[in-house]
Amino acid sequence: MYSIDLSGKTGLIVGVANENSIAWAIAKILAHAGVRLAFSYQNERLEAKVRALAEQLDDAIIVPCDVLEDHQIWTMYEEIKERLGHLDFLIHSVAFAPREALQGLYLDTRREDYLRALEVSSYSLIALAKHAVPLMTDGGSILALTYIASQRAVPRYNVMGTAKAALEQAVRQLAMELGPNGIRVNAISAGPVQTLAARGIQGFLSMYQAHREKAPLQRSIDKNEIATTALFLCSDMSSGITGSTVYVDAGYHIML
Ligand SMILES: NC(=O)c1ccc[n+]([C@@H]2O[C@H](COP(=O)([O-])OP(=O)(O)OC[C@H]3O[C@@H](n4cnc5c(N)ncnc54)[C@H](O)[C@@H]3O)[C@@H](O)[C@H]2O)c1
Repeated sequence: MYSIDLSGKTGLIVGVANENSIAWAIAKILAHAGVRLAFSYQNERLEAKVRALAEQLDDAIIVPCDVLEDHQIWTMYEEIKERLGHLDFLIHSVAFAPREALQGLYLDTRREDYLRALEVSSYSLIALAKHAVPLMTDGGSILALTYIASQRAVPRYNVMGTAKAALEQAVRQLAMELGPNGIRVNAISAGPVQTLAARGIQGFLSMYQAHREKAPLQRSIDKNEIATTALFLCSDMSSGITGSTVYVDAGYHIML
C-alpha cells in the first residue's frame, strides 16, 4: 500500500472510540508500516470496542486512561514502559466539550464548561507529552488533531474553537522545548469527517456540506487522507517539520 517502513518503532494512540475514529484510521496505517501500538481507552463503556479493534493488529496493547485523571496517565505510561520499553510516537486524538457548550451562543459559555473543554482537549496534550518524553529516548514524533475553528469564527463550534487555538499553541510551545531532544510536535487540521465527536457539534451536517461546496477540491476529505499525513509526519520523510499545523481539508482553509 505505502512503502514507509517503521518496523521496530512503537506508538501510543489516544482517542479511539470506535471504527469511525480518526485515531483508528491512523492506527491502522501505522500498524501497516510496522509500528507496534499501545491503545488507551477512555472508560469501561469503550473498552470492549477498543479491545476488539486493537485485537485486529499484531501484538497491540490496551490500557485504560481518562485524561482527566493524572494517576491513570501515570499508570498507563508505567505499563507502556514495561511492555514496550520505549516510545517513538504519540497520537493525541482527543476532544470533549459539554453538549450545552456546543449549542447556542458562545457568549453563554459557562465557566465550568470552558474549563472542562480546555482541560480535556488542550491540557491533555501537555500531560500526555510530559510522560511520553522520557520514553522517547531516540527522538520521536507527537501529533495532535485540530480544526480550522481555532483560527476562524465558526457558528456553534464555540468553546471547542478556543480549545483548538490553545492546542495549536501548545504544539508550537512543545515543539520549541522538545526540538533539542529530537522530538517533533505537529498538528493536523482536518476537514469535517463523520465521527462520534462530530455528532456532538450542533449543525455538523451543514458544516460538512458547506465544506464540500467551498473547498478547492470540491469534496470532503477521507479519514485515510488524515492517516497518510500522520504516517508522513511520524516518518523521517518529515524530519524537517516541527511546530506546524498541516491542513488536510481539501484546501478549505485558504478560502474566504
Ligand atoms: N471529526 C471531525 O470532523 C474532526 C475534524 C477536525 C479535528 N477533529 C479532531 O480529531 C480528534 C478525534 O476526534 P474524532 O472525530 O475521531 O472523534 P471520536 O469521538 O472518535 O474521538 C474522540 C476521542 O476523544 C476521547 N476522549 C474524550 N474525552 C476523553 C477523556 N476524558 N479521556 C480520554 N479520552 C477522551 C474519546 O474517548 C474518543 O476516543 C479530536 O481532537 C477532534 O477534535 C475531528
